[in-house]
Amino acid sequence: MKCSVCSKEAIIEVRWKGKAYCETHFRGYFLGQVRKVFDKFGVKGKICLALSGGKDSAACLEALTHLDVDVEALFIDLGIPGFSEECREAAEAIAAKLDVDLHVLNLQANYGTTIPSLVELEGKKPCSMCGTIRRYLMNKYAYEHGFDYLATGHNLSDQLAFVFNNLANVYLVPFREIGPVLRPREEGKLVGKVKPLYYLTDEECKVYSELAGLPICEDKCPYAETATTNLMKRWLHSLDLEMPGVLRRFAESFMRISEGMERDEEISGCRICGYATTAGVCKFCRLMRRVRRKSRG
Ligand code: AMP
Ligand code: FES
Ligand code: ZN
Ligand code: ZN
Repeated sequence: MKCSVCSKEAIIEVRWKGKAYCETHFRGYFLGQVRKVFDKFGVKGKICLALSGGKDSAACLEALTHLDVDVEALFIDLGIPGFSEECREAAEAIAAKLDVDLHVLNLQANYGTTIPSLVELEGKKPCSMCGTIRRYLMNKYAYEHGFDYLATGHNLSDQLAFVFNNLANVYLVPFREIGPVLRPREEGKLVGKVKPLYYLTDEECKVYSELAGLPICEDKCPYAETATTNLMKRWLHSLDLEMPGVLRRFAESFMRISEGMERDEEISGCRICGYATTAGVCKFCRLMRRVRRKSRG
């Protein structure tokens, strides 16, 4: 297989474009797709990139250093023994290699708790709790430190697997969150959100992070429930092999559906912390309140 641009040996096929690329031209393609999100949606200003230490957010940070944006990184230490330390070391090494400032926010130091102790107290699966905590802390950090946007490493495959998982459970609300950009909303102290890898697949992000030689952490979270997500991803990938471009078309359709759905539900400031909620007290504060009560016995 030869590169469609320069006829060197190709390292990857980008099926939706009907092209194959060598290392140099793949990097150009990848950065072009990232740039497209910023240009199309007019995203600019100070960007806080949520760096988990994994391949996607690492590839995303590397790509952002090639764009004309002011970027810093944030790692959240959730206190998961072994896993959080590995991820933190990777995040530190990635940020140092890319010469980007890294901020570390520690759940134990700031809120006196960790994911394992929350799991024990709540007796529930950690994924949704962890999601609530991460989303809350990332937004709060970015808001308090004057960032215009919070960027995450969600890629096209993640987005679609997430939506199909929700469809499989007749759960439609997160449709509203699937676009590449969400505007800031001052009433809930919400910074803007951007997903720079929105048009790029899992495979493309993996290849890009390998080419960039980033010291990523490949460990999986011990609580991760990936069975259905992986199944969805495998299914989407095999569909894409038979129908090149179908992933992007799915994403486009979902975006249009979400535009047609009722949006901008009433958001107000949480009575306790002032951050966004639709219910008086936000999910994060409700969780922390329950935890305090339970730990007091
Ligand atoms: P995930 O839900 O694990 O697929 O993560 C989605 C995105 O959230 C990642 O691409 C990162 O941008 C961000 N993220 C996940 N975990 C962390 C963390 N511990 N610290 C900072 N950002 C994170
Ligand atoms: Fe949150 Fe695994 S990273 S539960
Ligand atoms: Zn080439
Ligand atoms: Zn709150």
